[in-house]
Amino acid sequence: MTAAIILRCESCGATYGDDLASATCPSCDGLLLAEHAPPAVRGSALRALFDSRVVASAVRAHVRSGVWRFRELVLHVADDAIISHPEGNTPLITRPVIAEYAGVDDLIIKHEGHNPTGSFKDRGMTVALTQARRVNARAVACASTGNTSASLSAYAAQAGIPAFVFVPAGQISAGKLAQTIAYGARVLPIDGDFDECLRLAREASTLGIYLVNSVNPFRLEGQKTIVFELLQQLGWQSPDWIALPAGNLGNTSAFGKALREARSLGLIDRVPRLLAVQASGAAPFAKAFDEGFVTRHRVRAETRATAIRIGDPASWDRAVTAITETDGRVVAVSDEEIFAAKAVVDHAGVGCEPASAASIAGVRKLVAAGEIASNARVAAVLTGNLLKDPGPAMDSSRSAPLSYGAAMDLLRKVIGQ
Ligand code: F0G
Repeated sequence: MTAAIILRCESCGATYGDDLASATCPSCDGLLLAEHAPPAVRGSALRALFDSRVVASAVRAHVRSGVWRFRELVLHVADDAIISHPEGNTPLITRPVIAEYAGVDDLIIKHEGHNPTGSFKDRGMTVALTQARRVNARAVACASTGNTSASLSAYAAQAGIPAFVFVPAGQISAGKLAQTIAYGARVLPIDGDFDECLRLAREASTLGIYLVNSVNPFRLEGQKTIVFELLQQLGWQSPDWIALPAGNLGNTSAFGKALREARSLGLIDRVPRLLAVQASGAAPFAKAFDEGFVTRHRVRAETRATAIRIGDPASWDRAVTAITETDGRVVAVSDEEIFAAKAVVDHAGVGCEPASAASIAGVRKLVAAGEIASNARVAAVLTGNLLKDPGPAMDSSRSAPLSYGAAMDLLRKVIGQ
């Protein structure tokens, strides 16, 4: 199969083939962007091609994958080179009680917590590990607040490549750490925050270890499929808004790129507006948005939504482009707002990890501010599964054990007998 991607450095403009062994620009360490050769068909023919691949019954993983279904816009590789669980095919969920809380009539939840390791990271990781094997990586590494490391560990196990993860010591939820260890990656707890872990991971890549954080262009190519799949599930009719939590800004960048490509290839005729939501204790991007993006801020991050406790987001410039091109918005929500939204999502029987609920809290905030109309169609992405971080839910339900009799008394009282 012919190479259909050129990697272009967004800092110095250098270009490389898609067999580059480095995840960032070898000459200036800038971020690389994957540029695709145009697919053979576009518009309705391309939609029909993607729709023809929605097959739930296939045995081979890459055929069922909600990432590789869009392979013309992801990565061209031979079928047997693909490392796939499979992933994607996450559901759209509607619950009136959550829509009412957010303040819109038409709220569609895309639950990425239904991916194999419980977060959207699997969509980027299937591509990154496929690529790691293509370039014969001896080892792979990432810095992580937990989800990336769990996903990396699972896909590296499947690829048979040793994996290293750098995590801020004591700041990763038990569920994510357990996954990472169980799948077999080597965990290096670092005395520092996520931003420091990422600096270390980037330095490790100078030793020839393949870096698979979202600064790796192939991660973004996979994560774009959250948007492609959402649009496909909506019959290629764009919603008015797409809301997502924002930390290191890889996903915001991927969403922007997906929408740019979907529009230019005629998959959709109208671009939804992006709403990126940060936790107020980790909101350098929201602050910059309020100031018209004139300054790149860095903060010392603090939030109980540990997945997005990030103060110096790596994909800053790309995310600025994503928000600007889609006439998007960036807001900050407090931990109280995040956990209030999470309680609503949880009690609806849907459930999500804390950071994910930021998207619902952000929609509610923009509706209250009059920026999102109550009759708008809003798609909100929940990025991770409730079981990733069960601590907060457990904390709110601590009670002493009941005796047999006391339990029966309680039941009679509740039932009213
Ligand atoms: N939601 C969840 C559940 C996450 O784990 C992350 C990022 C985000 C949202 C934010 O996405 O960084 O692309 O803006 N988690 C990374 C990790 C940093 O290491 O697992 P982003």
